[in-house]
Amino acid sequence: MERLDRVLSAAGYGRREAKGLIAQGRVQVDGAVVTRAEAKCPQDAVVRVDGAALERGSIYLMLHKPAGVVSATQDDRERTVLDLLPQDLRRRGLFPVGRLDKDATGLLLLTDDGALAHRLLSPRKHVDKTYLVTVAGALEEADRAALAAGLVLGDGLRCLPARLEIAGPSAGLLTIQEGKFHQVKRMMACLGKPVTSLKRVSMGPLTLDEGLEPGQWRPLTPAELSILRES
Ligand code: URA
Repeated sequence: MERLDRVLSAAGYGRREAKGLIAQGRVQVDGAVVTRAEAKCPQDAVVRVDGAALERGSIYLMLHKPAGVVSATQDDRERTVLDLLPQDLRRRGLFPVGRLDKDATGLLLLTDDGALAHRLLSPRKHVDKTYLVTVAGALEEADRAALAAGLVLGDGLRCLPARLEIAGPSAGLLTIQEGKFHQVKRMMACLGKPVTSLKRVSMGPLTLDEGLEPGQWRPLTPAELSILRES
């Protein structure tokens, strides 16, 4: 048995939001309205918020993707990001939210929550993704300006404006709001500065936990999950 407000928090609602929803009589447990946040909720109870059943038991993992594995659920030849998880988790229908190239590293969210993944990946939502990028050649103010204006790639693809924060002669933090195939590599190649390494450091409100070594993962904290849901 778990407190009802904690059940809502585990599903991604902020603590204050959860308490408010319960107090307003918008939460039902097995069909009955419950208005006490501290009421105990059985593990197998169906909890509804405004009539919509809560996804209890969805899994949300933050992975520091290492180089050399592919962002797929299965692959005939390559190791996948799911191969980094223990056996019991591999059977839970998890998938990566978006892709990182085989040679790219950094933040990858793994979940079985299709609705949340869909929201994060929807091109219409313009979710920020920030990459630490190093390039061959020196990054210059002209590169920052060209990215901010919106590049048009050689194949005609018109990119949304992107933010470049130059962090060293050949390094920068690049924030983009789309996720086309090899997008960052193609953008930097278009500027004549091919990418030599690429690490995703954030996606929407989620920031890579620098305590995670490449290949390590951990569940999202309730705070991360609620901020992700609220964003
Ligand atoms: N852009 C790329 O080019 N590669 C990635 O893995 C992610 C963004």
